[in-house]
Formats: sequence, structure tokens, C-alpha cells
Amino acid sequence: MSKILIINDNQKWSEYLMNELTMRGYILSMANSSYEGIKQLHSFTFDLVIVKCGMTDMPTKELIKEIKVYSPEIIIIVLLDSYDAVVVTELNSLGVYDVLSRPINLERLLFVIKKGIELHSILISHRKFLLSIEEQNASLQKQNTFLSKRVEELTKNLTRLYENLRTTYMRTIKALAQAIDMRDHYTHKHSENVAHYAVKIAEAMNLSAHDIEIIRGACELHDIGKIGIYDEILSKEKPLTEKEKEEIKLHSLKGAQILEPLNFLEEIILLVRQHHENYDGTGYPDRHKGEEIPLGARIIRVADAYDAMTSARAYRKIPLSKEEAIEEIKRNSGTQFDPKVVEVFLKIVDKI
Ligand SMILES: [Fe+2]
Ligand SMILES: [Fe+2]
Repeated sequence: MSKILIINDNQKWSEYLMNELTMRGYILSMANSSYEGIKQLHSFTFDLVIVKCGMTDMPTKELIKEIKVYSPEIIIIVLLDSYDAVVVTELNSLGVYDVLSRPINLERLLFVIKKGIELHSILISHRKFLLSIEEQNASLQKQNTFLSKRVEELTKNLTRLYENLRTTYMRTIKALAQAIDMRDHYTHKHSENVAHYAVKIAEAMNLSAHDIEIIRGACELHDIGKIGIYDEILSKEKPLTEKEKEEIKLHSLKGAQILEPLNFLEEIILLVRQHHENYDGTGYPDRHKGEEIPLGARIIRVADAYDAMTSARAYRKIPLSKEEAIEEIKRNSGTQFDPKVVEVFLKIVDKI
């Protein structure tokens, strides 16, 4: 049942309309002033309002605006005493559905009311539809936020697990590398010393923190391939045969192969593989030269040689003095060693 409010200060006219509309099944309410009409709009819901233009208590335009504030979808029909094109245009621009002027044709008014109420029902359905879309949107957004948080948490957990796994792997491998150093008391702490020297050189060359960490990791593992070389060869006091020398040379390649399944060590593995490459291309295993050899491997090459020369070895019980080792490194700059790395090494060697 559609509800209509008539705001009209002409009692006779209102009663006439009320009778006609009630007979046709509409539920009617009457207000004999603009203020009374607004009061009723506060308290009840209407589908349509019929307003008489020109009531004395409030300008009709203000009344229309008030009605629109309280009930944006309500259908407003205005009745004019006499036709005025300017007023009709103004009222239409305020959102009035239709304007009829006296003498009012009842059939025309009934038709306008019927169409207005149909439009009202469409507007209400549309608003409900929009509201339900908004609600669904809000609920989807809530779910989205929840899922994003969950994904974030899971990613954090996975990252933590991955880091733990990585740390465990690294500890195991480092323990293995230390065990290799310990096999021969002459090479005790070798990897640690090489890491210390190489990091000092890398810092003096202004390498990034990431690159320095890769170099440190590679130093700690650089001789891990010696795990596959017989103790008799590693700790032999007499000069090595050519065959034994070739056997030892395999350690950098074997080291890279041992670490290969650990793909998160990719950058470290390359340095382990190439730590015996010479700057002039005479090293092993790949015989790379110059800039073909990663900078980290060129740094380790110098640090490794310096520690080997200044430490006692099975085949050379008395190590070289610091000065002798420095001279040897200078002599081989440009052949075994990268001259740029040697230059930096010479600047910092007194501090290490
Ligand atoms: Fe080595
Ligand atoms: Fe070494």
C-alpha cells in the first residue's frame, strides 16, 4: 500500500484529494502547513508527497529542499494555482517529479501519482541493491585484509624457517671446513685467517656489505674440497710429485661440487671454484683471466697466498717473514694476482 502526504493549506482542496485517492486504495495523511508537513516526514515514511505551491509559512523552494534532505527518494508533485514556466523550471531543477496547475485534471493527477509511485519503488530497490553491494564489498574487503595478514604471517614463518635451515646448513658446512683445517695442524685456522685478510681488503675497496659477506663465506669454505684428498698428500713433507700436485689442484673444483646442491650458496660456490685462478689465465680449474675471474675470487687469491706464505707448512717448516711474503706478492702482481687488489693489499697489510 502506497503512502501519500498532502501538504496543503486549502482545507477544501485537501479533503477532495483525500477522498479521491483513498477510494483508489492509497493511504493518505494531511498537513495544513509546511512545518506540519516536515514534522510528519520526520515521523513517518511516505512514497509520495503532494505540495501546494505558495503556502504562507515557508517559501515552496525551501520546503522542497527540506523534504529532499529527509527523504531523498520521495516523489514530489507540486500543484500550482496558475501555470508559470519560470516556477516550473525552478521546481524541476530542485528534483520535483511533476508540476500540475489549476484547474487540476483528476485523471492526469492520478496518472502522475501512479507513475511517480512506480518510480519510487524502483528508486528504493536501487538503493537497497547499492547497499547490499556496499555490504558485500565491505565483507570482501574484510576477508581480503584477513587473508593478506595470514599470507604475510605465513611468509614470515617460511622466511624464518628458511633462514634457520640456511643457518643450520652453514654451521654444518663451516664445522666441516674447520675439521679439514684441523686435519693438518699446519693449516689450523687457515680459513679463518684468509677470511680476516680478504674482508679487510674488500672493506678497503669499498665493496657492499652483501659482497663482503659473500667473500667471508667463501673464505670459510674455500678449501672444503680438500676433504677428498688423502692425508698423506696434504701432510707430505717431501716435495709433491706431479701427480700429487694435480690431485691437490682438484680441490677447488671438488669444493664447488660438494656445495653445488645448496643453491642458496650460488655466489659463494663460484668464488670457491675460482679461488686458484690466476690473473694471467694460468690458474685452475677454468683458466679464466683478468676480469673474467670474479673480484671476490681475485681478493681471496691474494689473502690465501699471504696466509700460506706466512704460516708454517708440512713442506716448509719455517714460514716466510711478513716482508718476504709482501715481496713475493708484489713480484707476482699482474701474473698470479690482480694488480688492483695487490695495490689495496699493500696499503692495508701493516694493519692486519
Ligand atoms: Fe685452496
Ligand atoms: Fe687455502
